Amino acid sequence: MSDHFAHPAYPVGLRLTGRRVVVLGGGTVAQRRLPALLAAGADVLVIAPSATPSVEAMAEAGELRWERRAYRPGDLDGAWYAVVATDDAGTNAAASAEAEERRVWCVRSDDADAATAWTPATGRSEGVTVAVLTGRDPRRSAAVRDAVVEGLRDGTLTAPRHRARRAGVALVGGGPGDPDLITVRGRRLLAEADVVIADRLGPRDLLDELPPHVEVIDAAKIPYGRAMAQEAINAALVEHARAGRFVVRLKGGDPYVFGRGMEEAQALAEAGIPVTVVPGISSSVSVPGAAGIPVTHRGVAHEFTVVSGHVAPGDPRSLVDWAALAKLRGTLVMLMAVERIGAIAEALVEHGRAPDTPVAVVQEGTMAGQRRVDATLATVARTVEEEGVRPPAVIVVGEVVGVNRAGTGR
Ligand SMILES: C[S@@+](CC[C@H](N)C(=O)[O-])C[C@H]1O[C@@H](n2cnc3c(N)ncnc32)[C@H](O)[C@@H]1O
Repeated sequence: MSDHFAHPAYPVGLRLTGRRVVVLGGGTVAQRRLPALLAAGADVLVIAPSATPSVEAMAEAGELRWERRAYRPGDLDGAWYAVVATDDAGTNAAASAEAEERRVWCVRSDDADAATAWTPATGRSEGVTVAVLTGRDPRRSAAVRDAVVEGLRDGTLTAPRHRARRAGVALVGGGPGDPDLITVRGRRLLAEADVVIADRLGPRDLLDELPPHVEVIDAAKIPYGRAMAQEAINAALVEHARAGRFVVRLKGGDPYVFGRGMEEAQALAEAGIPVTVVPGISSSVSVPGAAGIPVTHRGVAHEFTVVSGHVAPGDPRSLVDWAALAKLRGTLVMLMAVERIGAIAEALVEHGRAPDTPVAVVQEGTMAGQRRVDATLATVARTVEEEGVRPPAVIVVGEVVGVNRAGTGR
């Protein structure tokens, strides 16, 4: 059968919906092949005396049929495709001989040379299936597959869509700042943008990677005349999208965590512009984490509360019940609170939180300038002042601050 290697395999996409596929063997090889067969809608019959717990679970869930027995001649009757993967060489040889006789394409786990079909390394990204065959080098196939799928996902491999160009606006949560902490979807949409309207916070390094034709607009610099800044941003989103451009609104953290994401989504919906919202990693959890602080920890904190400190306690505009927060035992995570930390710490102590409760202030989390300053509720205002801590910073209050005092740094 050496001519299998003299000639490259002929690639094809099998449409298996409702068609019988027989899998002989219930071990790890079968387990790895089954999800793609099931995803293709195949009518899968597994024949094996025993199976891994995952294969068993698929059978129990009704995703496939499993006959608990060894292979018998005739098992490939009615099959369109066969996967021969038992741990018995004789059984594999007999089954693949039956497949040959019945003209059923057959992959073999133990002997690629004797197989009539090979399984490519496959991956999917947004409707594109990538399948790679390299003959005898499955690791290389997997590496090429990974490179292509990864490139499509993160936008470093651009493959323009000829049928459907994107339109409208994507509100993309860019994560806390480290360019690696944007989601795969966010990164991909960014790579397809014609216009990017970016906040000051978020992964600004990614903007440098955009091709020159992409218009990058700093949201803070959009002139707003008599309107509010937010209205001017909404108007800019609408205007660019109406001009037929695909707009990415790149925001720090998650769009819906103190990000005004819904205001923008509503303005776009009112203007009849399609909008996609892509979640992001919020600084409220990731910035403490980057400084070695878990927002919850077994036996220490069973809750964490995320609060905006952009208006001081007692301010009539405040929607935060500081007295109630002071009575909680868990972790308090505060965003936009650097300027008012003195009044906030005072309110928490006044309403019952212990003055020696540990506090950490993490400035520019996940970015090159990240730093962490530790204090207590009693000392935090002075520490912030003395250390010259400036926004953006996340302030964490609670015993979790001390769980791993050394922190992880960066
Ligand atoms: C307007 S809020 C936006 C929050 C964002 N939507 C999120 O989910 O992270 C801005 C505040 O988030 C916090 N913040 C965002 N990124 C940060 C970072 N990399 N390091 C420290 N704080 C950050 C700061 O408290 C900052 O003042």
